[in-house]
Amino acid sequence: MRRMSRGPRLAMFMGLCALGGCAEHSPFGTFMDSTKNCTEMVLRGDIQTVAQVREQRFLGKVPETTARCLGGKRVENLREEPWLDWPNYWAAGDATSLAPARLLSDAKVIGPNAHGINAALYELELQRIELIKFNLFDNNKTYQAYMTGRDGEAGPVLNTWPEMRLPESHPDFKAVGGDQTQVCRGELIRFRTLTGMCNDIRNPLMGSTHQLFARNVEFDTTFPDLSLNEMTKNRHGDRLGLLKPDPQVISRKLFTRKQSKPVVSLDKSQQDKCREGYGLPDSAKEAECDYEKAPFFNVLAAFWIQFMTHDWFAHLKEGHNRPEWMVVGCATQLVQNIEQPVTGEEAKRLGCRPDDKIDAASIAEGTKPETFTQGGKTHLTRAPKTTANHVTAWWDASQLYGYDERSSRRVKRDPKDHAKLFMMPLKNGVSVGEELGYLPVFESADPINPEWSGQEATAFPDNWSIGMSFYHNVFAREHNVFVSEFRKQTARTPDADSGLRNPADPDRVIRYKDVTPDELFEVARLVVAAEIAKIHTIEWTTQLLYNEPLNRGMNANWGGVFAKHEAVAEALREVVRRLGDSEDAKKVNSLYAAFAAGPGIFGLGNRVYDGVPLVGLINPDKEDRWDLKNDDHINGGVNHFGSPFNFPEEFITVYRLHPLLPDLIEYREWDNEPNIIRHKMPVIETIRGKATEAMRQKGLSNWALSMGRQRLGALTLQNHPQFLQNLKMNRLQSSTRQIDVAALDLIRDRERGVPRYNEFRRQYGLKQLTSFDDFVDTRVPRNSSVRLKQEQLVKTLREVYGQHQCDASKKITEAQLNDDKSPINDCLGHPNGSLIDNIEDVDTVVGWLAEFRRPHGFAISETQFVVFILNASRRLFSDRFFTSSFRPEFYSALGVEWVTKNGPGPEMIEEGAPNGHQQPISPMKRVLLRTMPELAEELQGVVNAFDPWARDRGEYYSLEWKPREGAEKDEAFANK
Ligand code: HEM
Repeated sequence: MRRMSRGPRLAMFMGLCALGGCAEHSPFGTFMDSTKNCTEMVLRGDIQTVAQVREQRFLGKVPETTARCLGGKRVENLREEPWLDWPNYWAAGDATSLAPARLLSDAKVIGPNAHGINAALYELELQRIELIKFNLFDNNKTYQAYMTGRDGEAGPVLNTWPEMRLPESHPDFKAVGGDQTQVCRGELIRFRTLTGMCNDIRNPLMGSTHQLFARNVEFDTTFPDLSLNEMTKNRHGDRLGLLKPDPQVISRKLFTRKQSKPVVSLDKSQQDKCREGYGLPDSAKEAECDYEKAPFFNVLAAFWIQFMTHDWFAHLKEGHNRPEWMVVGCATQLVQNIEQPVTGEEAKRLGCRPDDKIDAASIAEGTKPETFTQGGKTHLTRAPKTTANHVTAWWDASQLYGYDERSSRRVKRDPKDHAKLFMMPLKNGVSVGEELGYLPVFESADPINPEWSGQEATAFPDNWSIGMSFYHNVFAREHNVFVSEFRKQTARTPDADSGLRNPADPDRVIRYKDVTPDELFEVARLVVAAEIAKIHTIEWTTQLLYNEPLNRGMNANWGGVFAKHEAVAEALREVVRRLGDSEDAKKVNSLYAAFAAGPGIFGLGNRVYDGVPLVGLINPDKEDRWDLKNDDHINGGVNHFGSPFNFPEEFITVYRLHPLLPDLIEYREWDNEPNIIRHKMPVIETIRGKATEAMRQKGLSNWALSMGRQRLGALTLQNHPQFLQNLKMNRLQSSTRQIDVAALDLIRDRERGVPRYNEFRRQYGLKQLTSFDDFVDTRVPRNSSVRLKQEQLVKTLREVYGQHQCDASKKITEAQLNDDKSPINDCLGHPNGSLIDNIEDVDTVVGWLAEFRRPHGFAISETQFVVFILNASRRLFSDRFFTSSFRPEFYSALGVEWVTKNGPGPEMIEEGAPNGHQQPISPMKRVLLRTMPELAEELQGVVNAFDPWARDRGEYYSLEWKPREGAEKDEAFANK
């Protein structure tokens, strides 16, 4: 471990203290209360610092004294395992993780609990900094400049790239400066543009529709199936291929949900109650499709993330891939480590289909990439193949508003008020929410893929489901509610300054009455997009990662931890000022990231004070000099860390979250005894046009209640929905017209060259596994049913992926070294020549689903999480509208207030102190209350809209499944 010298140690420790909020009393509160172990640890400098080179990275493992200081004996015992240490620190779990004989409030202020949380936050920040430093690989030919620098400037601080200029053929080429320096100005920077261009005013193309996906892993580790270099050959031998190991066999053996009311039963009295996800006739409530449930996350949360991904990325263009049809497996399997064909009988037994076919993934560039040499090493300039993102990469609500000309034609504006989206009330007078209406349905003239006919008209209609219908209607209502409120304000104060300005005419005050319907439409879009980003960051994610360190971490990302701590903020400004002079470009970037956690990423740079380099903090005593005429102010808050922003291919992999979906939705009615489940509605009967039908028949608030109360599926093996393994799609050119989406998830990752699980972890700075047994959660008691199931699954992994005789002379990675600094070889620490598990071959999705050991309250695995740490914050850091342009000039005064306070008027505070925090009523709850006021009673006890609505949240991050007061009769609590 590298130790720190005294000065930086103090700064880092301050950062640690501050990140955890221990500064509430004094910035040195944690210091003062250190236990002996902790004091020793700090004085000896046992604090890991940012690695200089890749092989020295922090792998989430700390020395023994540190472990004992932060979590007592329990942590020590778990240190030998590959998983992160921080989840075992004091107070990082539920009430049982709190240090003995300490009060709950300790977790917030001082003592072991504060140590635990602060250290966890410190380690998370360290990981983020190292991820920024080692995991950015852009495919747009900027990588060489990132490595070698340009015109005397170091690569990691470059912030404009020729590759991000508009080409001559672009209609706005001249407007941004043509052949000269390109800068977007005037109308082009006023609102979010349709294609996402000009978000960064000096990099017009960045993040726009059809730009290439980036990578987070070294280019030469991608496409392992192609055996392009010695290292991948050593790592995988000849064991990999597009259909090797067979994806449908993997799906059927490792992904299928086991049913207690089986599909094939000799006992006639035992009816099949799932029927591959189709349930029973008339959606009878007696239907049953078993699934493993996550008790602290609801079905609304599952569909939320599908709704988000439709905004962020799409490999498919208008619902299509390349028009080239390929078989998808169900052809071979390993039997006792030997590959054998799958016979017809065997296919039947497994449930897979050899005749399924799918269109192959689109590839943007497949030619051999160029190379360059630096420091004696040859690097690829891009991955061996690249793919394009066919929507904007920005968090701009493009799924609602459009991402190109064609998709924008699917968005209907209200003919009576052009600022609004067109919504049609269907059941007048039933409730306030109903009056706000529903999206219209596509008309025959609309530019759509025929599969989408009958669906609600919106920009991104692919893979439409009841959940997509839900969120598109909710946020269309929210858009209109904002417009109505703006109009009310206009009626009250027509001559008052709206706060808006036109960058093309920056000195002109725009009064409320001057705002045109088109301008107001765009302002509402900005507000809705920012609200969505806020909901995702501080409400959805804090429930996905339900523990105290992440609660603080995510809130820090958004609002910062220093808003109320000016003294600490000043100290940090000083640190940053000094670091700003540093010549080490990567260091500057790292520290920028770390200290942005002070003021929060959101709003970074939207205030400018004389002589203060750290942007973003609100300082009421100083004059804000932010100026719309100053390009550096408009764009000054963004930081791309030397690599243009787009999502990496690896990000899509960890969002393949299909197991979240149940097969059946437990349907309830808000005005008719919500505790009773009335129907079990198959999700498969509520997709595409049928979603629209179901939405209109049953109504938004009944679906809100139903999905709000039901638990979603746990992200684990053997928990994929039956209906997605047997999905029918008309566009498929095969005899079956069906596809196993779970198997397709593996195929797509292979087509796009995602490294397999173990190298994926090494690339992201996580410890490798050395056998399938490492997946077993050793904290679970031996012989318990949970442990036995995990051990059984490990056997199945071994059966499916096989074993090989290892060769210690073969080096398999350059990302990490063994603890003794020797290269990692094919034997992974086992004796040369021994039979070892093919852990290197495990598909990444399979690997992260197999992580039975999770940090407390994590619905996802640590491998997925580390991908989010990097990309979720980059998505905020890079977006001008979430940083320096989050200003009334763009959002209007009302818009800024709406996003900041979760709606109009004064901030509303939640009752009590959930998990020890007094907090505003959450943003999604406020949206639900505005768009469906009839749910007010149901939502009264709800603190987080993504926690099952009838669950008692208990004292401190409890995951228990027990009813809150008033919901004791809810049927969902009868069957655990
Ligand atoms: C009824 C619900 C759903 C249906 C019918 C559905 C269907 C599909 C299909 C057919 C594909 C494959 C497209 C292809 O590569 O050819 C796909 C991809 C995907 N699905 Fe789903 N899905 C559903 C829900 C979800 C949910 C809840 C998530 C959660 C995040 C999700 C995340 C993804 C992702 C990340 C991809 C890859 C997209 C890309 O490559 O750009 N899906 N889905």
